[in-house]
Amino acid sequence: MSVLVANVGELTTNDDELGVLTDAALVLEGDRVAWVGPAAFAPPTDTRVDAGGRAALPGWVDSHTHLVFAGDRTEEFGARMAGKPYRAGGIATTVSATRAATDDDLREVLRRHVAEAVSMGTTYLETKTGYGLTVEDEVRSARIAAEFVDEVTYLGAHLVPPGADPDEYVELASGEMLEAVAPLVRWADVFCETGAFDEAQSRKVLGSARKLGLGLRVHGNQLGPGPGVRLAVEMGAASVDHCTYLTDSDVDALANSDTVATLLPACDLSTRQPLPDARALIDAGATIALASNCNPGSSYTSSMAFCVTTAVLQMRLSVAEAVRAATLGGARALRRDDIGVLRVGARADLQLLNAPSVTHLAYRPGIPLTWAVWRAGSPVHLP
Ligand code: NIG
Repeated sequence: MSVLVANVGELTTNDDELGVLTDAALVLEGDRVAWVGPAAFAPPTDTRVDAGGRAALPGWVDSHTHLVFAGDRTEEFGARMAGKPYRAGGIATTVSATRAATDDDLREVLRRHVAEAVSMGTTYLETKTGYGLTVEDEVRSARIAAEFVDEVTYLGAHLVPPGADPDEYVELASGEMLEAVAPLVRWADVFCETGAFDEAQSRKVLGSARKLGLGLRVHGNQLGPGPGVRLAVEMGAASVDHCTYLTDSDVDALANSDTVATLLPACDLSTRQPLPDARALIDAGATIALASNCNPGSSYTSSMAFCVTTAVLQMRLSVAEAVRAATLGGARALRRDDIGVLRVGARADLQLLNAPSVTHLAYRPGIPLTWAVWRAGSPVHLP
């Protein structure tokens, strides 16, 4: 069945040739985009949706979340807002609750958060394991995650579980645990940070994952300067995520690589860290992505629009740069070329804003602007 989305006031395609169109239309057929162009030339279709002059853009690509969890960390957040610093050790609280949860408890948390994200315009989602940290719990996390999201990442190297010996745990996370989870995931990640895994430990996990054919991602430079960015670039990781504390040489390394710098501003705000220097990265020629990092500890939001708004108002990005980072940037971080863009043949992942232009995402901060969402051609949120 073909659907004409007619009367689009402003259409952000992220396609180099199409650019931004006004008075536009597009046709969705099955799960793909079948036609994009000026409204006056739209072909006949089975059905028609009138966008009423609203803005259309690709659905958000959220390339960094941690949605396989149970439990609540409101108290930790409240203490932080009262001045206590964020520490990676808080992850252990969620690990205990996640291990104690049933499969259906975990499914319900995933279902709720994916639905919440989709209702706010997210059409493609990555999520990570990392709150299980035993072979059995990591396998379970990956298996359940795959029921709900597009891409799953193994993050057995999230934290050395309390009471475990660090060297023995790195052996496990780069050996038996990794081998058990690898058939269920596309990516492996490591939290390379003081208090989590050092450079040598991170290199070991990433090297073993690469030998098994997994793509690599790194949590790096979140809580202070460190080796994460350099290691990610050296190992050819698809992305290094956080990038809150960057040196000039980190920026240069990213600019001269294919590794995407994924920035997580909601996390930096929720942990009272500075915001990353997105301007320096873009000006140097690095590719950036914006992602929510939705998790119960450091960033409990699935709103990509909030990240875009923050990137514009507080990180000195133009609206076009921020929208691109939250769509095409996420697609690049996940090494996908059929999402984050609206051109013939791309996946029909589309959102309409209840506004005439994407500029309103920053001009009207905090106002929920999602009006309609299609995910792989199916209407998943309609007015
Ligand atoms: O990306 N940095 C490590 N992992 C998560 C935090 C998870 C937590 O605090 O539970 C992050 O911020």
